[in-house]
Amino acid sequence: MCGIIGIASRKEFESNDVIKMLKRLEYRGYDSFGIATDTGLFEKEVGEVRHVSDNRCTQAIAHTRWATTGKVTKENAHPHSSCDGNITIVHNGIIDNYLELKEWLAAKGHQFKSETDSEVIAHFFEEELKTCDMRHAVEKFFALVKGEFAVLLIMKGDDMIYTFKRGSPLVLGIADGMNILASDIYAFSNRTNKAVFFSEDEFAEVSAGGYKFYKYDSQLVPLTKEIQVFEWESKESGKMQYEHYMLKEIHEEPEAAARLIDSMKYEQKEKMNELKKMIEDSKRVVFVAAGTSYHASLLGVYFLNKAGIESHAIIASEFRNFTLLDDRTLVIAVTQSGETMDVIQALHGIKGEGVKIASFVNVPYSTVQRMSNVSVNICAGQEVCVAATKTFVNQVVALSYLASLFGYENGIEKIPDKINSLLRQEEKIKGMAETLKNVRDIYIIGRGFSYPVAREIALKLKEIAYIHAEGMMGGELKHGTLALIENGTPVISLMPEGDNHIISNTKEVEARGARVIVVSNSSFDYESIKIPSEDEASFSILATVVGQLLTYHVAKEKRLPVDKPRNLAKSCTVV
Ligand code: G6P
Repeated sequence: MCGIIGIASRKEFESNDVIKMLKRLEYRGYDSFGIATDTGLFEKEVGEVRHVSDNRCTQAIAHTRWATTGKVTKENAHPHSSCDGNITIVHNGIIDNYLELKEWLAAKGHQFKSETDSEVIAHFFEEELKTCDMRHAVEKFFALVKGEFAVLLIMKGDDMIYTFKRGSPLVLGIADGMNILASDIYAFSNRTNKAVFFSEDEFAEVSAGGYKFYKYDSQLVPLTKEIQVFEWESKESGKMQYEHYMLKEIHEEPEAAARLIDSMKYEQKEKMNELKKMIEDSKRVVFVAAGTSYHASLLGVYFLNKAGIESHAIIASEFRNFTLLDDRTLVIAVTQSGETMDVIQALHGIKGEGVKIASFVNVPYSTVQRMSNVSVNICAGQEVCVAATKTFVNQVVALSYLASLFGYENGIEKIPDKINSLLRQEEKIKGMAETLKNVRDIYIIGRGFSYPVAREIALKLKEIAYIHAEGMMGGELKHGTLALIENGTPVISLMPEGDNHIISNTKEVEARGARVIVVSNSSFDYESIKIPSEDEASFSILATVVGQLLTYHVAKEKRLPVDKPRNLAKSCTVV
């Protein structure tokens, strides 16, 4: 995955200014980081992005890593350099055929210092530049290299940053006397609102004074690119009074949901109508998403099916294997970041097949948004914690609102007040969390619309509280999982009023000694949390919020790194 940044400036700047920008890309990975400047600074370390030695420079590249090829070590951190140290690169993506390239380069005498795929890039250019110029070397790179890459390359004594991309995102920000290359606009959105987005197989030469773009299509051809002016909320509120972003973001849910509802009713009304028309003109809807967004999509399927629209949800990384598409299929991508590579690849795979693409995205100007025929912004605002909380809520709000345009009745407009009233039960949920902090496994059961919620709560418990958790359909228990229920095993039962089948499933686990915790809008004689919902959509959101708070307090009790759980990243930009 990883985040990259490169700066070419007329005026000198501080190495730690780059680090501040890099910090804004940390959601893409935080295993290790590094920086190289034209004035000789070359530092890399394991761990989160932090202060480096002071160094004044006019050119710098930097990287924050989420390890794919090669362990989390200082050697494997970026930047990587050529044998003679003249060429230095940072890379986001995966070079699939790096072993082949490495073997070829090693035979030519190149010595490798890391286990990464990325290091071959520096050596490849060192080798090629012996016999040709940069543009020809880039052409060879595009022709020979398989995989995904966004690369920034600098050379000693050269004021240019050479950059080329395939698959991985890359954008050029045009600021005052400074050109900034980055994985996304967020890295520089507090400095400029002018950007040039790279498309596939593009190469650019970027200096402080200007830039030149080229398209690779068996050779490099000069290209004129449009500068886009974007709107972005640049001020950041930090954690405010909260200890963690996760808790802050949960508490922002009422406001975020209200903002979205308002936006869909007024500002984005046209877009919603356009999307409605696209659905009416289609035979079926297929959602494509990953992680938490997939769980929101499963709810979208439930809501739309209830409204009489044939819908399916497919995990993005398996999209190709489990869908049949035609020109009457509408694919709807649901993605917080709009940069998840599995989702992007699924969409790339259908481009040109006549399939229309719509999306619900949180990050404006993201790749998925730009690939869509129509894209609705879920207006959740920036989400910093790796675990999605308020963006899940807003995805569900958006999908239930969409279904309501087809007659699916729900009380989604009341959801901001309902979440506020649920948040008043936080102390009770915290008390429950204290009793769960040492458990090994938790099972969450639901049926119908509460099944995706069960999966979402389980995901939260795994990723943030490091508890093995399974979210499953209540009806499936008896087909295997019941064997794992022992005396005291916690089972959270999502029990909407009137769902008699889930009551039976709950009794089945109770009979086998489980510790039953009920989340319901009705009263039961169990350890329970009561949620103020009157309809399916609000039940699904409120029950999820209970799971979010429970997870947060368990993780806090366990003193875990709530906002940056081990091994994960907020935006997964590799397949
Ligand atoms: C990562 C994040 C999850 C997120 C998933 C999909 O795994 O850690 O929180 O749900 O990616 O991300 P997206 O941006 O596509 O919603």
